[in-house]
Amino acid sequence: VGRRILCLAIAAGIAASVAEGAPEPFDWSGRLAGYQRPARIPFPSDNGWSEARETLGRTLYFDPRLSQSATVSCATCHNPALSWGDGLPRAVGHAMKTLRRRSPTVLNLAWGELFFWDGRAESLEEQALGPITSPDEMNLTGDELLARLRAVGEYRSLFEAAYPDEGITLGTVAKALATFERTLVSAEAPFDRWVKGDETAVSEAAKRGFRLFETKARCASCHSGWRFTDESFHDIGLPGDDVGRAAVLPGIDVMRHAFKTPTLRNVARRAPYMHDGSEKDLEAVVDLYVRGGREKRPSLSDQIEPLDLGKAERRDLIEFLHSLTSEDPIPASPRLPL
Ligand code: HEC
Ligand code: HEC
Repeated sequence: VGRRILCLAIAAGIAASVAEGAPEPFDWSGRLAGYQRPARIPFPSDNGWSEARETLGRTLYFDPRLSQSATVSCATCHNPALSWGDGLPRAVGHAMKTLRRRSPTVLNLAWGELFFWDGRAESLEEQALGPITSPDEMNLTGDELLARLRAVGEYRSLFEAAYPDEGITLGTVAKALATFERTLVSAEAPFDRWVKGDETAVSEAAKRGFRLFETKARCASCHSGWRFTDESFHDIGLPGDDVGRAAVLPGIDVMRHAFKTPTLRNVARRAPYMHDGSEKDLEAVVDLYVRGGREKRPSLSDQIEPLDLGKAERRDLIEFLHSLTSEDPIPASPRLPL
């Protein structure tokens, strides 16, 4: 009997210390190890990297002649000075038409698996021609695009250097754009220096924020790995009639209102947030998660539930998100070929 009482006393003691918020053990180095940056950029075997391909892709990316009006380039909506987004809640395309979704960043997509907010493109090559020929975006037909490029002498030599004997085709345009995009990788951030062992690289608040991100706030269940995305699709409870991934995979109920988990690299530079630009800053994003989403539909992810995070904890989480910001060089727009 004596022993049983002792056990109960110990059990009560443990319960009391948990109730008082004593920290549970946390494997810092094990958790940080899940965020190591890869050593090199992967390129597909049928479109390997070469300097000539990167140069051609960069030139096309910044060339407004890829649009009907000759005023819109890829960089208009994926602007290097705005962390490769456009700073708008929703993109503005051809003839100033507001599109239904926000321009995502094109950073770190070499590791991407499916593209667009709803994952409807399976490669960067497949994605690249979409905006050019979309009437709402750049509004140029494939034939017009090729006629324009073939009329430019310097483009003929740039294509020949990049894809010898393949000519100026929709295929080589897409491959060059994809090659350039694969080279866009966010530089080392304070968080990466911490992962590598420099304990002074981030603040104590950011460290507490990382711990919350991994545990109580549940963020890492979707924002995982060094790019902070599971490359999957979730309904996190944003209202609206855009069904997201369900338009690509009809009949799968959990895919209704599900959108691709965005990278959190340099996220502090890319407000406003979400596929619809509905959250104006990181405070608003964290509030949304604390509430467990705003629209509680059957498709709502089971990882989204109200969170018990105090004010200081929310600040720590945001401080952690800031530690993912790197000082990336902003490439100068290339001189356009004549
Ligand atoms: C008018 C603005 C606009 C222009 C111009 C534009 N985009 Fe986009 N881009 C968007 C929007 C909006 C989306 C998201 C659309 C969606 O998910 O339905 C997007 C999505 C993408 C994605 C997918 C990113 C991801 O994480 O899945 C890539 C890659 C991309 N664009 C590259 C390009 C390239 C290359 C060009 C030039 C040929 C270009 N874009 C021109 C607005 C634009
Ligand atoms: C169930 C998976 C899931 C969980 C858990 C989750 N996220 Fe997200 N996150 C997403 C998805 C999906 C989006 C995009 C949703 C959309 O646009 O409709 C997103 C968007 C974001 C964005 C906006 C990024 C941008 O470029 O628009 C931020 C910031 C963010 N999440 C941070 C967090 C934080 C912090 C937590 C933890 C409190 C968290 N997320 C938990 C899946 C998740």
